Amino acid sequence: TKKELVFDASLFQHELNIPAQFIWPDHEKPCSDRSPPLVVPPIDLKGYLAGDPSAISNAIMLINEACQKHGFFQVVNHGIDLELINEAHKHISGFFGMPFLEKKRAEKKAGDISGYASSFTNRFSSKLPWKETLSFRYSADQQSANKVEDYFTNAIGEDFRQFGRICQEYCEAMSNLSLVIMELLGMSLGIGPSYLREFFEGNDSIMRLNYYPPCQKPDQTLGTGPHCDPTSLTILHQDDVGGLEVFFDDKWHSILPDKEAFVVNIGDTFMALSNGIYKSCLHRAVVNNCTPRKSLAFFLSPKMDKVVRPPEALVLDSARNFPDFTWSTFLEFTQKHYRSDMKTLDAFA
Ligand code: SIN
Ligand code: FE2
Repeated sequence: TKKELVFDASLFQHELNIPAQFIWPDHEKPCSDRSPPLVVPPIDLKGYLAGDPSAISNAIMLINEACQKHGFFQVVNHGIDLELINEAHKHISGFFGMPFLEKKRAEKKAGDISGYASSFTNRFSSKLPWKETLSFRYSADQQSANKVEDYFTNAIGEDFRQFGRICQEYCEAMSNLSLVIMELLGMSLGIGPSYLREFFEGNDSIMRLNYYPPCQKPDQTLGTGPHCDPTSLTILHQDDVGGLEVFFDDKWHSILPDKEAFVVNIGDTFMALSNGIYKSCLHRAVVNNCTPRKSLAFFLSPKMDKVVRPPEALVLDSARNFPDFTWSTFLEFTQKHYRSDMKTLDAFA
């Protein structure tokens, strides 16, 4: 039988010669100078949550501008307990710090969403991402069988129950925050606060924990290649290392870390839902040669069988930019055809 070659990025973190599979083509390599930061005024949610009218109109204006321009913004004063975020980061460090074979017990199988992944040659033969991930599903529907805590104990082991509980709590907080952001997005599109909020109630979302080991050749590789998220809205928390970059105005910009902020970007499914008014944002993650980096990504997605179709008010006078689709068919398409250099929604539609 063919021996499976496994490339676990952490195995090579001290090596000057990284395997060729991790070396990206010249036109995609990050430049050695730090990309200039993208400065976007943060959305302060405190005033919105308190019902302050001037804070509400200010937030709506900032969101509208950011989402038409590049599909990226940050939220601060979001009300989520920093202790919960810190706990999650601690457990993530503990998990990815384990020996490879321990983590591999939770290995993601081809076609699955949930599981641990490092880079495997049977999946991509080149342009391997310099990272490890642990992904799992979260459903906001109380009736759903997808319970985060059960996933952790079943797939990784009983010792991970507490990690699972923290992740369950974190996902609940992200789902609630995303519904608040949906109210603002709805108002900024002129369709009121309820339509989008209701669209995403009971969401079938995905959570991914990213771990980027140090790399001795950070200008040759990428932690995550350039892509648009196929999901609806991504809420990301990055630690204080930095590495996230957004493509805007024909160049890459870094997003400076801020532990008190969440980074939010529009995904393909929301772009379709807004009839293309709001842009799905192209982004990537670079690595560095001294410090491991962690990020937590919550991918808000509609309920599986929900039909993604823009509301009438966003179609009047203009043509439809994307066909109707259910989230489950698009998700299946991205699982089969995803490539880091492709715009998945264009290929699908
Ligand atoms: C991603 O977009 O998949 C990861 C981004 C990050 O780690 O900052
Ligand atoms: Fe992403």
